[in-house]
Amino acid sequence: MGLEIRSKLGVTIDVSCISGLASELKTKEELITLLSMVIFTSTSQHAATNNGQFDWCAWVPNTPCTMRRPPPTDKDAVTMDMIMDTLPDISQSCMQMAITWHLGRAQPDAIPLGQYVEQYFTEPAALKVIDQFRKELKELEEHIIAQNEGQELPYLYLSPSCIENSITI
Ligand SMILES: [Fe+2]
Repeated sequence: MGLEIRSKLGVTIDVSCISGLASELKTKEELITLLSMVIFTSTSQHAATNNGQFDWCAWVPNTPCTMRRPPPTDKDAVTMDMIMDTLPDISQSCMQMAITWHLGRAQPDAIPLGQYVEQYFTEPAALKVIDQFRKELKELEEHIIAQNEGQELPYLYLSPSCIENSITI
């Protein structure tokens, strides 16, 4: 049987597929490590790969969604016409741009990191940790904004306000 996490709401998640994890938890530290990995993966790591999708993929040759011809066997024989016949056509390119725009845009129902719509935590110790976490996120946000001031292409993918509390899409 794999390693499972069961939430207060009764949702069970099988995390045994995450590489590098033990098949069972024996200590509090192992649980902390596991939960940290889950939180990091579904927040910051997801934002790092998700938020720039459109910016990167909208230039279709960066990540063509399909290739219409096989790879050339002779590099010297490659022409611009062959490249254009190989890259996605206009319709496929538009589809790629639309999908990556939708996946990477700020989702209307997104909840930023450190914000909790439901009040799961009521204990003073937990509320203190949440307050400290929010304070650190605010400081980080201000630091990132200051670093990007005046930049022609600001890099805000990992600003806390752009990181979701969990993955919407
Ligand atoms: Fe995503």
